[in-house]
Amino acid sequence: MRISSSVFLSIVGLMGQQALGAASDSTIKACQEISKALSSRVSFPLSLTYQNEVGEYWSTVLRDLKPACIILPESALDVSTAVKILNKYPDVKFTAKSGGHDPNIGHATVQDGVLISLSKLSGTTYDRARNVALVKPGGEWNDVITALNKEGVTVVGGRLGIVGIAGLLLQGGISFLSSQYGLAADNIVGWEIVAANGTIINVNAADQPELAVALRGSGSQFGIVTQFTARAYPIGKVWGGMRIYDGSKADAIFKALHDFVPYNTQDKKAAIIASHTFAIGGTRAFIMFYFYDGETPPTTGPFADFLKIDSIIDITETQTYPELLKSNGMGASLLNSRISFRTFTLPYIANNPAIYAEISDKMGDITKEFLSDPFKLTSQCSVDFQPLSSIVGQHSEDRGGNAMGLTGSDPDRLILEIQCSWADKRDDEIMVQFSRDLTDWIESRIPVWVGGQYGPVTDVYLPLFMNDAMSDQNVTGSYRNYAKFKALQLQADPEGVLRTRTGGFKY
Ligand SMILES: Cc1cc2nc3c(=O)[nH]c(=O)nc-3n(C[C@H](O)[C@H](O)[C@H](O)COP(=O)(O)OP(=O)(O)OC[C@H]3O[C@@H](n4cnc5c(N)ncnc54)[C@H](O)[C@@H]3O)c2cc1C
Ligand SMILES: *[C@@H]1O[C@H](CO)[C@@H](O)[C@H](O)[C@H]1NC(C)=O
Ligand SMILES: *[C@@H]1O[C@H](CO)[C@@H](O)[C@H](O)[C@H]1NC(C)=O
Repeated sequence: MRISSSVFLSIVGLMGQQALGAASDSTIKACQEISKALSSRVSFPLSLTYQNEVGEYWSTVLRDLKPACIILPESALDVSTAVKILNKYPDVKFTAKSGGHDPNIGHATVQDGVLISLSKLSGTTYDRARNVALVKPGGEWNDVITALNKEGVTVVGGRLGIVGIAGLLLQGGISFLSSQYGLAADNIVGWEIVAANGTIINVNAADQPELAVALRGSGSQFGIVTQFTARAYPIGKVWGGMRIYDGSKADAIFKALHDFVPYNTQDKKAAIIASHTFAIGGTRAFIMFYFYDGETPPTTGPFADFLKIDSIIDITETQTYPELLKSNGMGASLLNSRISFRTFTLPYIANNPAIYAEISDKMGDITKEFLSDPFKLTSQCSVDFQPLSSIVGQHSEDRGGNAMGLTGSDPDRLILEIQCSWADKRDDEIMVQFSRDLTDWIESRIPVWVGGQYGPVTDVYLPLFMNDAMSDQNVTGSYRNYAKFKALQLQADPEGVLRTRTGGFKY
C-alpha cells in the first residue's frame, strides 16, 4: 500500500498530538508562546532532546513522567522570559530541574506541565579577589569540584560526584567538609534568582540576612536559582574512598560509629557515611565512605578504629578531591532502578550505643519476607547513618544560620537516609511503605531511647533533612522557624505561583 505524503504527515501530526496527550489547552498554548520566544531552547515530545532529557533522572520511576514541553534555558534571561510567560497562564503547572536526583514524583518532574531543565545553564568560575565560586545549577558536582581544583580551592558540596548541584544547595547539603565549614547551603552568600513574577533578582546574604537564612534549606519555593555564590576553601590531596564489609562486622562498625559522632567535633577533617544495606535473602553488608582532609588519616581515635576493621573491598587511597568524588559516584552511577528516599533525624544518645543495631534489626524484620523472594533479586534497601556532629551547627550559626535551624548550642545528631531500590513497578507501594514503617517505628522509640538525657522528649529539636526526605514528610513543618519562613515565602510569592504550581517541599 502506498501512503500519500499528506496522509503520512497527518499521521505524524496525530502522533504528536497524542504525545502531548493530557496536557491542557492552556499548557499547550504556554509551551507554544515560550517556544516562540526561546525557539530551539524549547523541545516537544518525540524530539531527541526531549527524550534524552526525560531519561535524565536518577530514579527510573521519574522517567515515565512526560511534561508537555521542556525548556532548556541557556541564561537567567531565558528563565525569566519563560516564567513571565507562565505568569500569564495561571493554571499551568511547571517545575525546575537541575540534576534530577530527587526521587520524589512531582518535585523535579511535571506530568503534562512545563519542565524547566537547567542542564545547559552550567559552569563554575572562581573569583580569587573575593574568594568565592560562582556556580551555575546545571551539571553535577564532578564538574564543579574539577573546575575549582585547578585553582587549588573547593566549595562545600556533594560527596558522590554524580549528584546534582542546585537541589543539593537549596535543600541543605551534607558534605565531607561539613564538620569544617557547615552545610553546603550555609556557605552560599549570594543567589541569582528568577523570582515568582519572572524578575531576575540578586540576593546577597550581607544585605538580606533573613531571606538568606530561608534560602538555605527551603528548596524551590523562593524562585528558580540561576547562579550561586559560594565561599571557597583551600584543598590539597585528600585521603578516602569506599570500603565494603560483610554484615558480621556490624558490632565493630556501630561501636566506632557511636564513638565517632562526638569525636568529629575535635577532628573536623574526618567524615564518614555508614551505609547498611539489606539485600536478597536478608544479606547485610556495609558500604562505608571515608574522607579525611589530608594525605594520611589519623592512626588513633574513632576514625582510625573504623579503618582497623577488615573489609572485603577497599578502594581508599590518597588522591585529589575530584578523583575521590568521581570514584565515590562510580558504583552508584550503575544503579538503574526505581528509588525512594526517606529521612529521620536521630539524636545522639551517649549512653545508648545499641540503637544503630536496633534500627538495623528492625529494617531487617520489615524487609525480610519481601527480600526472601528469589524474584526480587535486584531489590535492596539501605539505612545510611550520617553523623551530624554539634560542630556543624556552630558553623551554620557563624555563617548566619540556615532554614533547618542548626545552631551552635545544638547537640550531636545523626541524619538517617533510608533508601530502597527495586525493578518492578508493581512493588512501588510496598517498597515506599517499608521506609515509612521504619521511621514510624523509630519515632515511637525515641522517647524510650532518649530517656532523661535531654529533659522532656518534646524539647528535643529534630529537624528533618530535606535532601534525603520523602515527599509526604513535613520537612518545613519540622523547622523551628516554620511560621517566619512561611511568611517570607508569601511575601516573595504573593500569587502562589511557586507555592501552588511548582514541585518540591512547601511551606
Ligand atoms: C547518588 C546520590 C548522592 C547524594 N549525595 C548527597 C550528599 O552527599 N549530600 C546531600 O546532602 N545530599 C545528597 N544526595 C541527595 C541530593 O542532595 C538530592 O537528591 C538533591 O535534590 C539533588 O539535587 P538535584 O540538583 O539533582 O535536584 P533535582 O532533582 O533536580 O531537584 C530537586 C528539587 O529542587 C528543585 N530545583 C532544582 N533546581 C532548582 C533551581 N535551580 N532553582 C529552584 N529549585 C530547583 C526541584 O524543582 C526539586 O523540587 C544524594 C543523592 C543521590 C541520588
Ligand atoms: C506541617 O507542619 C506545620 C507546623 O507544624 C503545620 O502547620 C502544617 O500544617 C503541616 N503541613 C502539613 C501538610 O501537614
Ligand atoms: C517581582 O518580585 C520581586 C521579588 O519578590 C520584587 O522585588 C519585585 O518588586 C516584583 N516586581 C513586580 C513588577 O511586581
